[in-house]
Formats: sequence, C-alpha cells, structure tokens
Amino acid sequence: MTFRDDGHAAVDWAADYLERVGELPVLAQVRPGDIRARLPQSPPEQGEPFEAVLRDLDEILMPGMTHWQHPRFFAYFAVTGSEPGILAELLAATLNSVAILWRTAPASTELEVTVLDWVAQLIGIPRGWHGHIEDTASTSTLAALIAARHTTGRNVVVCSEHAHSSVEKDARMLGLEVRKAPVDDAFRMRADALELDDVAAVVATVGTTSTTSVDPVAPIAERCASAGAWLHVDAAYAGSAMVCPELRWAFQGVERADSLVVNAHKWMFTPMDCSLLWTSRPDDFRAAFALVPEYLRTTDEAAFNISEYGPALGRRFRSLKLWAVLRCYGREGLQSRIREAVRLAELFEGWVRDEPGWEVCAPRPFSVVCFRREGSDEENEAILERVNSSGEIFISHTKLNGGYVLRLAIGSERTTEDDVCRAWAVLRDGG
Ligand SMILES: Cc1ncc(COP(=O)(O)O)c(C=O)c1O
Repeated sequence: MTFRDDGHAAVDWAADYLERVGELPVLAQVRPGDIRARLPQSPPEQGEPFEAVLRDLDEILMPGMTHWQHPRFFAYFAVTGSEPGILAELLAATLNSVAILWRTAPASTELEVTVLDWVAQLIGIPRGWHGHIEDTASTSTLAALIAARHTTGRNVVVCSEHAHSSVEKDARMLGLEVRKAPVDDAFRMRADALELDDVAAVVATVGTTSTTSVDPVAPIAERCASAGAWLHVDAAYAGSAMVCPELRWAFQGVERADSLVVNAHKWMFTPMDCSLLWTSRPDDFRAAFALVPEYLRTTDEAAFNISEYGPALGRRFRSLKLWAVLRCYGREGLQSRIREAVRLAELFEGWVRDEPGWEVCAPRPFSVVCFRREGSDEENEAILERVNSSGEIFISHTKLNGGYVLRLAIGSERTTEDDVCRAWAVLRDGG
C-alpha cells in the first residue's frame, strides 16, 4: 500500500465515522484499564502496514472512545471538529511546519496573525491587538498571568469563585496568590467587592464553566485601571458567540482588557487544539517572553517571531484549520450555527421549566442549561449516572450554592432538535 492508498482508506474511515457516530454509545462503555489490557505491552520489532493501525483503531481503541463528535454529547462544553478543520489538520501534519522563527515558517506566522485579526473583527474586539494561538486556554491564561506579573511586579491574582480551575492552577504554577472575589445571585463577579491595591491581575470570565454567567467586564476594567492591575478576560467558551451581534452585550468593556482568550476549539468548530490569545499590550507580552539565543538570531530585520509572545518555541501550523473553518463557514455560517445551539438550549430550558417536579437553576445567557429534579443531591446524581450509562446521551454536573445541579451543554453542529428531544425524554422518563 502507498501513502495515497492508505490516505484514501483513512479519509474513508473518517467519513464513515462521522456518518455513524450518532449510532454509537456516546460515553465509552469500558472500565479503567480495559483498553490498556488489550494493547501489546511492547512495540513491534518490525514495522507493520498502516492498515494494521486502522484495524486496531476499530477493534481495540474504538470501544474506549467517548465520542465528542456525537450529536448527543451534552457534557462540559460540547464541541465540533468540523469537516474543513479535520482536512486542514491532515494538511498541517503533511507540511509539518515548525514555527520557531518567522524564517522557519513565514506562511504559518503570517496566516496566524491574519486569522487572529479576522476573528477579532468577527467578535468585535479592537483592531491592532496582537493575537496568536496557544494550545489551550490553560496555557493562554498562564501566558497572560506571566505578562501581568512581569509588568506589574505584583504577585496576587483575583478571580471569582466561578472562574475556571485553570486560573488557580496557573497561579499555583507561578507561585502567585489567588484571591476569590464574591459573586452576585446570578453567579457574576461583584465589581464593587474588589480590593486591588496589590493585585497583578484580575481574571474576569465571560461564560463561566458552571453556568456560563458573565462577569461585568466594564466596571471590573474601571477598577483595574485605577489600581494598575492587568485585566485578563477568559471567554474560552462564550467568546465565539460574539460573532452574533445580539449576544455582544456580554463583551461590553472587553475593549479595555489587557488580554483575552477565546477557544476556537470550543465553539468555533475548529478541532482540538486552538486557543486564541490577544493582548492590547504586545510590548509588555514581548518583554515578558522574548529571549533570543545566538543560534536563533537572524538577519530578517522586519520579521515577527510569534515565539517571542508566549511560552512555546516550536509552534505547529494551527492557523490552517481555523482559516479553513472561517473560509468554508463565513460569518453567516458561524452565526447560524451559534444561533441554532442557543435556540435548542432555550427550547430545552422551556421544557424543564414547564415540567412539574423539575427546575432551572441558573440564568441561561448562551447554550448551557443548569437544572435539577426536585429531590436530594443523591437522587440527581443517580439520574446523571443512569442517563450517562445508557449511552444515549452524555451530560455533566456542577454544584451551585452547595447543591448538585445537572448541566446540558449544546455546542455540536451535529446536534438537532430531535437529539435534544431525545435527551429530555431520557432524563424525564427515568428521572
Ligand atoms: C471558562 C473556561 N476557561 C478555561 C477553560 C480551560 O480550557 P482548556 O481545556 O482549553 O485549557 C475552560 C474549559 O472548559 C473554561 O470553561
């Protein structure tokens, strides 16, 4: 078999998978260790044909897959690896570009800053910010906190108790102290309760992980400006929704942020991983990260090395898949998919609200519904375990005000109204 034949087989495999993924159990039906026990303990002595890899993908690995591409994946934040994105990943691996410097990857470097500029226009953030791609929001926020500490010389980070755990983990890795600001009854950071005198950075979240609540960025920005604190906005999930003007209210004040993260791999139909990080203070970022040893010095005077704006030196060609998605979907394609997810979430929320014995537990700004059945935490946990083990749907949970709450997140472009109906039937009928 040649590369071409194996390639055709791999693309056929991918096309077949996407066609039938909705018929598979969404949550893997295996126990810890099951897959490992079926894999050889040592590598082969002689090389095998690629078709052996495809065969074992089917026979050994597929039973251990939780299917994030499944239309009834409703846990955490549902995502989409779209078809243009999948194909562009193949091309990026083919080119295997390593963007350590502009000269090692001029196309990748210049496409990356261009697509970040395109997305900035799509989601309504100011022109002229420096944008580049990190692997995950955890790394993007780490980079922002490094820049904030370097710039302010301070060692305290403030976020709300609803901020993502990555903020606390990043702060721990950097030896920074974390202070949690209180939230109001809609789970939004209280700007009036901030004390920022010795604070390096405030992380405000637009679309928190539990409820997708929106911290009030404008008054937080005001407080940061007067205290000399860096403002980082974590819009990992909800940032993509800003492509819809009717949802833009959530970005009020973001133009005053020092840095911003939006995960294209969450709700911009781009395969994992693609975290977009912008800063309005590129010189401060560069001061924190630029370190050019002799062997990386070049005479390309006007060149722009993205590796001087973040932790990684070698950078892969992630912009190619985002470019493919933006080209193939366009602004309208992105908007219609986001709007459909929000419409489906609103529909589901209405069904829960209208059903005696069930309640909605938090406001729903976007496409995530927090809800529970009247009864104990244990009963709601049992519902989650039961529906997930059915293989029909996969949902996750959180705790709000100390109580156990179910979460249904809509974000896959493959999810239809029928899928959401099925989810509600599975929940309600056995609930
Ligand atoms: C608001 C928010 N920030 C950050 C993250 C971390 O994202 P990543 O997995 O890209 O590090 C998440 C993950 O769900 C999130 O919801």
